[in-house]
Amino acid sequence: VSLPCFVANWKMNKTIEETLSYLSLCKKRFSHLPHQDVEVILAPPYTALFSVGKRIKELSLPIGLSAQNLFFKTEGAYTGEISPRMLCEAGCQYVIIGHSERRMQFGETDAIVVEKVQVALDAGLIPILCVGESAKERAEGKTLAVVKRQVKEAFCMDKHRLFDLSRCLVSYEPIWAIGTGRTPMPFEVERVHQEIVQIFHEEGNLHAASRPRILYGGSVNEANVAAFMEEPHVSGMLVGGASLSAETFMNIVQLGM
Ligand code: PGA
Repeated sequence: VSLPCFVANWKMNKTIEETLSYLSLCKKRFSHLPHQDVEVILAPPYTALFSVGKRIKELSLPIGLSAQNLFFKTEGAYTGEISPRMLCEAGCQYVIIGHSERRMQFGETDAIVVEKVQVALDAGLIPILCVGESAKERAEGKTLAVVKRQVKEAFCMDKHRLFDLSRCLVSYEPIWAIGTGRTPMPFEVERVHQEIVQIFHEEGNLHAASRPRILYGGSVNEANVAAFMEEPHVSGMLVGGASLSAETFMNIVQLGM
């Protein structure tokens, strides 16, 4: 049975110093949690990755480390970019790929996302693939089609270049729910998650044990986490705004596990 998984995506927030006091509070909270029953992952900005990874080790915290992005080349003249190998060296085991903020504000297309998934897997990083529809697509009834396209493209399913997907995480994040305080109903999230599972079935890449875990993201908070986690195909949460406070994030973990 796979563990419920909670990812804190800090986005462009927190200095190194701020992240370290966050970890001290996590340490306190973990001492009261049955932490073998849950997977917690922090996604700090690039500048804090190394120090967060180091402190996680020093405090023996059961916490995974994720980057929020990566570049799809291994090295070279790409000013300002960060390679998969650099992330591994900084201590990352995971990397968020295709977040809607990157798709919308930085022009990340499905074609770029697939390159990133490929290089992440090649480097031994676990991709946390984000997919989700816009408000307009939802209004037009295109939610399932959009999510299906994004998942299939990211994992190259149409080209039969199948990866070992069992290690991957997929996070369903409706764009209109991110940072807005609005969310779909838990049964609507469940419907999309079922569709994602179905895609893996269709592609024949699915032994029960080897399907990616599917998270939900978008305005997750202490009040709504339990209802989402009750749905059978919801394996965890990707939390943005509400993860900036260690207290709130650890409450969400505790309420959801
Ligand atoms: P939010 O962000 O929790 O602030 O809505 C979620 C996300 O961007 O994944």
